[in-house]
Amino acid sequence: MRAEAFAKVNFALAVYPSSADGYHPIRGIFQSVTIADEVAILASNEDGVEVSNDEAPADETNLAWKAFDAVRGTVRVTQPSRIAIEKRIPPGAGLGGGSADAAAALGLAAARFGLADEMVMTIAEDLGADVPFAYVGGTKMVEGRGERLVDMEPLDGFALAVVVPPVSLATPAVFKEWDRLDSPEGPSIPDAALPPQLRGGLPMRNDLFPAAVSIDPRVGEWCDELSGVWGTSVAMTGSGSALFAFFPNTDEAESAVAAITIPARLAAACVPSPVGWRRIDD
Ligand code: C5P
Repeated sequence: MRAEAFAKVNFALAVYPSSADGYHPIRGIFQSVTIADEVAILASNEDGVEVSNDEAPADETNLAWKAFDAVRGTVRVTQPSRIAIEKRIPPGAGLGGGSADAAAALGLAAARFGLADEMVMTIAEDLGADVPFAYVGGTKMVEGRGERLVDMEPLDGFALAVVVPPVSLATPAVFKEWDRLDSPEGPSIPDAALPPQLRGGLPMRNDLFPAAVSIDPRVGEWCDELSGVWGTSVAMTGSGSALFAFFPNTDEAESAVAAITIPARLAAACVPSPVGWRRIDD
């Protein structure tokens, strides 16, 4: 069994001071996009995890493995399996790659072992704050610590250019820096730089941007550089370091990507995806 696992971009991410459990309540607009890993669950004589590069752990600490193993434990099956991940979404970028891999593994395992949807969402919440969204995907208002998903009109009709600077940021460190900086608000993307459907509503701001820049100023430098080259507003997704901008169509997003001369970890054009993951075998 095989699936594509889609990255996410936060068009908005408002953060509020942490509650008793240490998590920060958030309110954000999350969008799945067509930058994808590939996750396969394969029959095997023994358990194992393979990753196509060294950007994610090839052992039982991999979140996709934890997802598969949680389903297997819930349905009380012991049959061994191998998970193979073709990794294209850089980790430490705020693109939710690890959560996407986990959501895809969860979906494949639930299909294989016949697990009910309510159980799947409970396991998703236990795996991490971004996993429930990664499992459902599309365009969602996400609240709480990430478990409350509110349907929104699906977004399409535009493209994005996504650039990951040579900086990897750990989500807990960015939230901690946000606390240390006294809960700053991030800058908003002006309406003129937004697709029409996102104008005039919730401010499109990422409150974690000042914290990411404070940890590594290169995030701010790359943001300024890209907005100069592209002539439009550039924003950060999640806890960074990935940066993005809106373009009217894929051709223009691809031209924007081609115009970059700075050495990025990833530079790609993409469009919104209506799902967080998708089976691609038979
Ligand atoms: O749930 P996940 O393992 O992805 O979260 C990683 C860490 O990021 C948490 O332990 C917490 O420090 C921080 N976090 C947070 N508020 C959120 C999401 C994550 O403080 N809403």
